[in-house]
Amino acid sequence: MRKKIVVGNWKMNKTFAEGLQLVEELLASQHDAAITKIIAPPFIHLSAITERVKSENGFEVAAQNCHQASKGAFTGEVSAEMIVSTGVKNVIIGHSERRIYLGEDSTMLAQKVNLALANNLTPIFCLGESLEDRNTNLHLEKVKQQLKEGLFHLSSTDFSKLIIAYEPVWAIGTGFTATTHQAQGMHNFIRAEINKKYGKQISESTAILYGGSCNAENAKDLFSCIDVDGGLVGGASLKANDFITIVNSFS
Ligand code: PGA
Repeated sequence: MRKKIVVGNWKMNKTFAEGLQLVEELLASQHDAAITKIIAPPFIHLSAITERVKSENGFEVAAQNCHQASKGAFTGEVSAEMIVSTGVKNVIIGHSERRIYLGEDSTMLAQKVNLALANNLTPIFCLGESLEDRNTNLHLEKVKQQLKEGLFHLSSTDFSKLIIAYEPVWAIGTGFTATTHQAQGMHNFIRAEINKKYGKQISESTAILYGGSCNAENAKDLFSCIDVDGGLVGGASLKANDFITIVNSFS
């Protein structure tokens, strides 16, 4: 059976004290211990939050990014090796906000994925189409290209270690969520592409999360889709009650 996973992407939110407070609330909550819960705070809080979480009741921590070079003169950047040295196990790669605002392209993202895997970090690889792609019926083609350029160079062994997050850009932070039909359709398409490239066993065991205005009200419907294995949650991960309601939304 595939893992069920909910990731809370805090983005650039929460001071240190606020972040620790949120973590305490999450750890004290009534949550389904069988669900993998991954918290992705800003870099500066990673070490302390990882120390506090220590995989308690299925909680893990993720970084929101890593650099594409292993080390060197890249002021302000953080490497995969540094992340793993703080005890963090996962890293989000290819979030659309970084693709759009910071110009991260497929070549760069493939390098980040390689370095994350080489350092035993689990990449949570984000992909998804723009509104224009969807309106012009290019959404499947776009996602296929992102899969191919970002991930399909990997060996089967490496590919089987990662998590994929489908995040339609038009749904992120907008309040417009994909319908269950749209989410299931794309997740099924992604799984079929993985099947073509890596075979049934790997495609059936790859966790594919949905992201984009996933919240306490719509998570149950989204998670009921057969190919949706959980969520990558932004805004709704900033309040413990909302995040835990989402975690407890698997039937
Ligand atoms: P959102 O963000 O839940 O606020 O739409 C999701 C994401 O960007 O990962």
